[in-house]
Amino acid sequence: MTTVNSAVSLGLVLGLAAGPALAQEGDPQRGETAAATCVACHQADGSGKHIDGGESWPRLAGQNADYIAKQLKDFKAGRRQNATMQPFANMLDDQQIADVAAYYSQLPATEAEGGGNADEALLARGEQLALRGDWNDYIVSCKSCHGPGNEGAGSTFPGIASQHAGYIENQLRAWQADERGNDPQNLMGSIAKRMSDEDIRAVAAWLSRQTVASE
Ligand code: HEC
Ligand code: HEC
Repeated sequence: MTTVNSAVSLGLVLGLAAGPALAQEGDPQRGETAAATCVACHQADGSGKHIDGGESWPRLAGQNADYIAKQLKDFKAGRRQNATMQPFANMLDDQQIADVAAYYSQLPATEAEGGGNADEALLARGEQLALRGDWNDYIVSCKSCHGPGNEGAGSTFPGIASQHAGYIENQLRAWQADERGNDPQNLMGSIAKRMSDEDIRAVAAWLSRQTVASE
């Protein structure tokens, strides 16, 4: 936690120094109103939904506000492409983006679905990738970036524990196919390309079964 905290305070210092570049303040109350169109998919509690074999809706509840805001801006600018999500991002101006991000980030993280049918062997492989990585395949553990409980670290590394298995799988496949490339460093692209289809199902199932401690 110390590293995260010092990274956060460093960010604050840099943010203050940067003045106008400081991220826009979001208001959770206004955000709840602006999120009226989002509940159809992301649900009233921000839990989203796992859809077997389909396009799952990610959990937004408890996700980092600056990460949410960045993704919405990326959809709007077409840097992150998704036909379902883009029209809804397009409806929001910068203030509404900051507001919905503030709103969802302060909701308690919810449980995820999609890992229920995974067998022991698959879950063991998933746990290995998430917590220890696999040096034979040059796969770094997920937690080395996504934080000790894979619950997220700062605004750069989103929480992936207790996220729907279907959504995690879809994102990893999108990086494999170079369909998601909105992170300028493309850290996930190189990781996903080293993963087999079974690795993807394994880590998605295991992560979806982890619960996130509420703050
Ligand atoms: C019709 C269903 C639908 C609606 C309505 C919808 N979304 Fe989404 N949303 C999705 C899907 C599907 C994805 C995953 C897209 C992908 O795979 O890249 C997504 C992804 C996101 C993400 C990225 C999450 C992450 O972890 O990277 C954010 C943030 C988001 N939506 C916010 C919103 C907000 C705010 C609204 C309302 C203004 C909204 N969505 C309305 C379906 C929807
Ligand atoms: C070297 C650092 C690093 C490692 C290791 C890493 N990630 Fe990531 N991951 C990132 C970054 C950065 C992002 C955010 C990309 C963006 O801004 O769009 C991300 C995003 C994600 C997302 C998207 C979450 C969302 O809400 O949209 C998933 C899913 C994910 N990672 C899964 C994994 C898995 C599974 C592993 C382990 C096998 C892993 N990551 C290891 C850096 C990393």
